[in-house]
Amino acid sequence: MKPDDPPGTDSLTGLAGRAGAILTIDLDAAARNYRQLRARLTNAECAAVVKADAYGLGMDRLAPVFARAGAESFFVATIDEGIRLRAILDDSGHPECTIYVLNGPLPGTEGDLIAARLIPSLNSLGDLDLWTAAGRQRGVRLPAALQVDTGMSRLGLPDDELETLAESPKRLEGIQLQLVLSHLACADMADDAGNPAQRDRFRAALDSLPKAPASLANSSGIFLGEDYHFDLARPGVALFGVNPTPGHDNPMERVVTLQARVLQVRQIDAHRGVGYGATFRAAGPTRIATIAAGYADGYLRHLSNRGQVAIGERLAPVAGRVSMDSITVDVTALPHDAVKPGDFVELIGDSHDQDALAEEAGTIGYEILTALGARYQRVYRGGDA
Ligand SMILES: Cc1ncc(COP(=O)(O)O)c(C=O)c1O
Repeated sequence: MKPDDPPGTDSLTGLAGRAGAILTIDLDAAARNYRQLRARLTNAECAAVVKADAYGLGMDRLAPVFARAGAESFFVATIDEGIRLRAILDDSGHPECTIYVLNGPLPGTEGDLIAARLIPSLNSLGDLDLWTAAGRQRGVRLPAALQVDTGMSRLGLPDDELETLAESPKRLEGIQLQLVLSHLACADMADDAGNPAQRDRFRAALDSLPKAPASLANSSGIFLGEDYHFDLARPGVALFGVNPTPGHDNPMERVVTLQARVLQVRQIDAHRGVGYGATFRAAGPTRIATIAAGYADGYLRHLSNRGQVAIGERLAPVAGRVSMDSITVDVTALPHDAVKPGDFVELIGDSHDQDALAEEAGTIGYEILTALGARYQRVYRGGDA
């Protein structure tokens, strides 16, 4: 088997052979997800949000895939992510792509932003003044995005600052306004009244500002309909296979497969405890498989006595607390030959995807992906198209 092949039951060699757990990332599926989202936008550009190292999956591998699939605009959260993304896009032959930095400029970082051709999101009048001054010093009007707060109460100009700006539009003359954006708080709840309310507030904000391309929708926002698309959509999580329409079938393709090795299988007697704190006690004779992934790998401790792993077509429950490097799984219900030391079981896969795991952990697919640890043997498949 080549080192790049995903693990099967046949023998693995080299790094993959030593790996306790293997994270496979399907770059072709990510590219298809990008194209699917773009096809849902009739009159809007489809950007790619690749902050947090492309939601934990590797910005160096994913960003060029989206650029090749047609993405011209990218969003990251921090300046350092932007600097890294600029190098990745330059090296992969996409120097023309636009990179927006959502967290905005910090005092003293203006030179770094300019050098890497990053466009900050100006999230307050203070940010606007900072960026205007940086341009004035250099005798240019620097490009910028302007974020308005329509309901997140997180980043972006609040109502009073927006009014100040509407009364003195000259304050915008020192920058090149490339994009006006806002962020939906409840896009994953399609019927929430907050969605049309934010859309309407966004429209009103746009009316009070000089004309510029507008952006509101994240992944879920794209599925709210054309009304939410404006000029540019900013999907992140759906590119990586997480369901942007909770409660409905997932329209996206799974990108992540996570397989971990069975280290030991043991038979225990009734009443015997399993794991730290003995929070699982065997009700009768029980078989426990110890699997090589723990909370240090991003397998959240909250999955203690709640998570499930797929063994073949069957699901087996996590028994006891998640440890740092391993989990223990009750495999009593499975045939003896279905689970042996050295086998791989699926923590994320066809029968149990990242959204199912998130549900068991009481969290969201975003957190499952961004928590994926550094110890996994990473295998990237495809990505040439
Ligand atoms: C401002 C902004 N836009 C777009 C996105 C992408 O959102 P999603 O991953 O839900 O598509 C995020 C992610 O949190 C964000 O903060």
